[in-house]
Amino acid sequence: MQRHKVSQLLSSGSAGQKISVCGWVRSRRESKNFAFLVINDGSCQDTLQCVVDAGTPAFDLLPRCQTGAAVRIEGVLKESQGKGQAWEVHTSAIEVFGEADPETYPLQKKGHTLEFLRDIAHLRPRTNTFGAVFRLRSALAWHVHDFFQSRGFRWVHTPIVTASDCEGAGEMFTVTTMDLTKIKSSPGGAVDYSQDFFKKHAHLTVSGQLEGEFMAMGLGDVYTFGPTFRAENSNTTRHLSEFWMIEPEMAFATLKDNMALAEDFLKHLFAGAVKDCRPELEFLEKQYQTMKVDDLARLAESKFAHMTYTDAVAELKKAPVKFEFAVDWGIDLQSEHERYLTDVIFKAPVIVTDYPKGIKAFYMKQNPDGKTVAAMDVLAPRIGEIIGGSQREDRLDLLEGRMREMSLPVEDMQWYLDLRRYGSCPHAGFGLGFERLVQYVSGMGNIRDVIPCPRAPGLISF
Ligand code: 4AD
Ligand code: MG
Repeated sequence: MQRHKVSQLLSSGSAGQKISVCGWVRSRRESKNFAFLVINDGSCQDTLQCVVDAGTPAFDLLPRCQTGAAVRIEGVLKESQGKGQAWEVHTSAIEVFGEADPETYPLQKKGHTLEFLRDIAHLRPRTNTFGAVFRLRSALAWHVHDFFQSRGFRWVHTPIVTASDCEGAGEMFTVTTMDLTKIKSSPGGAVDYSQDFFKKHAHLTVSGQLEGEFMAMGLGDVYTFGPTFRAENSNTTRHLSEFWMIEPEMAFATLKDNMALAEDFLKHLFAGAVKDCRPELEFLEKQYQTMKVDDLARLAESKFAHMTYTDAVAELKKAPVKFEFAVDWGIDLQSEHERYLTDVIFKAPVIVTDYPKGIKAFYMKQNPDGKTVAAMDVLAPRIGEIIGGSQREDRLDLLEGRMREMSLPVEDMQWYLDLRRYGSCPHAGFGLGFERLVQYVSGMGNIRDVIPCPRAPGLISF
């Protein structure tokens, strides 16, 4: 018989239907006359309860159906007498694919801490929490594409291995095939990358933006959605060394268009999560009490607050709290400052614009005041920065001047300057950190719990 998924049975099963369902045993309860096997197959948050009568061949197999075992259940769907579920299965046959020794199976007991589960990343997708998080992650990824495709943006694939440092922060992982025990250095002591695979110093990309820009200069509106890497020594609950980023880039667009796109985009994602993952969100809300489904639904309809960096600094200076990092015009806002704006003042996401040029990347458009750039960060409650973006400097002389001021390798980036030499136009874009989005929507406290295999300083278990 063809396999049914638990989600299908719970949403469109019918009484008396013959079914075959495969999954992993969540719990087993036995009494004299019958037993209950509760199974989950990952297709939805809910489990399916299977009743096994004593004296049947299936009942004799129960000792092998330990928590965690993989089984196939055949039987008939019946309306459930019990509370909490609409259907149960009256079991006629069980097939045991793989047992799980209760003496050693790490998920034998419930109620493990998230820290414990992080150490068994290969088993945690079988838990309620991680099932919920990863189904939510998948739905959000789908809605990313859905949003851009429905607006005529083209998905472009930017390189993972690159010779450019988009953010100019030097936080890159080197890609090399050189034998590290025999690296040749040139006379100054620097590594001689001309001996390397690409004959150049190559890295894992920190952002697809620069390549996104040249694609936008031909295709108009584009977006990337891919992995990015940062060798930043940040051991926090919101930093990963490998994370996914979505970077739209629009030709003929200003900072204002960029802000509108970011706001519509986030609201579309919030609404999509509520529409497709209500059981997951309700589970996470009950379990962790950080994100309320109703709040998320409301945010999807609300208007985001906007303020300039200069106004944000003024607000922070007035704040009746003592920050660890003192606030002054020109500082990079720290997480505590961002969270004061979102969690205390606005209690909602806020878009901060026009940051001092000294704390932002070289490619941002300089404002007429000579001090600030047309930058925008979207800050979210609990998380802080979730989106960073800007209008791009489209004037060749100003861009080149800024690159020289910041000692960037202007000669190697002539291709980027060509975009300002030939058919330059106002354009803008941003990057959404996908894990920060999933973290915000799910309410999970640590970004390491929203990606299957988190990478962070000192953390790469397999
Ligand atoms: O603000 P960032 O560095 O901006 C850029 O990379 C631009 N090139 C984007 C663009 O304009 N196309 O990074 C963008 C977002 C941040 O707002 C944050 O959400 C996320 O990427 N991010 C990280 N997420 C997890 N771990 C890290 N280490 C992150 N660094 C940035
Ligand atoms: Mg940023």
